[in-house]
Amino acid sequence: MNSVNSVKNQFVIRALLKWFSQNARDLPWRKTRDPYAIWVSEIMLQQTQVKTVIPFWERWMRELPTIQTLAKAKPENVLKLWEGLGYYTRARNLQSAAKMIYEKHSGKFPETFDDILALPGIGRYTAGAICSIAFNQPKPILDGNVIRVLTRVFGIRGNPRGKETNAQLWGLAEQLVSNSKLSCSSLNQSLMELGALICTPRQPKCFICPLRKSCVAFKENLIEQLPNLEKRVSSTNRRFTAFVVENEARFLVQQRPAKVVNARLWEFPNVEITNGETFPANKVFEVASDASPLCTIKHSITHYRITMEVFRAELRSKEIPVGKWLRVSELRKLAFSSAHRKILHLLAR
Ligand code: ADE
Repeated sequence: MNSVNSVKNQFVIRALLKWFSQNARDLPWRKTRDPYAIWVSEIMLQQTQVKTVIPFWERWMRELPTIQTLAKAKPENVLKLWEGLGYYTRARNLQSAAKMIYEKHSGKFPETFDDILALPGIGRYTAGAICSIAFNQPKPILDGNVIRVLTRVFGIRGNPRGKETNAQLWGLAEQLVSNSKLSCSSLNQSLMELGALICTPRQPKCFICPLRKSCVAFKENLIEQLPNLEKRVSSTNRRFTAFVVENEARFLVQQRPAKVVNARLWEFPNVEITNGETFPANKVFEVASDASPLCTIKHSITHYRITMEVFRAELRSKEIPVGKWLRVSELRKLAFSSAHRKILHLLAR
C-alpha cells in the first residue's frame, strides 16, 4: 500500500468509526457478543431485510437460546421457527452446524476463522462477520452493501463479481479492518451500515455521507455507474394451480420431499401449469369448470415470479392422494411455504 492510499485508508477508517458510533441502528443482535446469537443473525440476514429479521431473531433466541437447544430441537420445530423467512436450507444448515459444534467442539462455538468456515452454511463472508463481530478479529467481510461502499469510495470500475476485481475488493476490506486496531467489529459493521443507510443502490444520500470528501464516485460523478454489476437476469413467470380439498372440516395437505426447493415444507396439492393451458388439469382433483379461484397468490422467489390460482376442489378418482387430512388448528402447527401459508390464512378466517 503506498502512503497516499494509507492516508486515505486512515481517513476512511476514522470517518466510518465516528459515523457508526453516532448512527448505528439499535438492532437486537448488536447488544450481544454471543457468537451463537450473532451467527443466527447473520444467517437470517442473508437475503432478508433487517426489519423482517428482527422478530424472527428474537423469537428464535427465546425458543432456542443456545447451541445445545438448537442441536437437540426437533427439525420440524426448527423449520417452523424459520417459516416465512424463505430459503429454508439456511435453517437446516444451522441445525447441522449446531450438531457439528456439539460433536467436534464440545458444544462451544469455535473461535478460529477456519473452524468457523468449515461449518455447513458458512462462507467467507459469514465467517468473517462472526470473527469480527463476536471476537473482534481483523477478518474482512464483503457483501453487496460493502461492495457498493468500496467500489464507489475507491472508484473501482471492474465488475465486482469478476475474479480480479473481487480479489481487489477483499484485499481492500482486509486492509481497512486490519488497520482499524481494536475496532474490527465496529469497522465491519460500519461498512455494512453505511451501505444499508447512506450508500444505497439508488439515490444514495451523498449529501450526509461521512466519506463524501474522499469518495471517487462522488467527485467524478460515477455514483450511477458504480458498482459495475451486470444486469440482473430477468424474471421468469411460472403459473401454478393449488387445490383446496375439504372433507369433514379437514383439508388435504402434502409434505414436499427432501432435497428439493422448500424441502419438507407443507403445501396444498398443486401442479404447475405449462404449455399455455388455461384451466387447471389434474387427474386427481375435480374443479368445476365454472369454478372461480378461491384466491390468486403472487409470490416472487429468486428470479421466478409465481402466480398461483387456488381452487376449491373435490377428489375425482378413487385414487387416494398421498398426504394428510388435517384440521385448520393442526395445519397451523406445520411449517408451510410462504405462498401456501397465505392460503391457510384464508381458510382460517
Ligand atoms: N446485514 C448483514 N449483517 C448485518 C448486521 N450484523 N447488521 C445489520 N445488517 C446486516
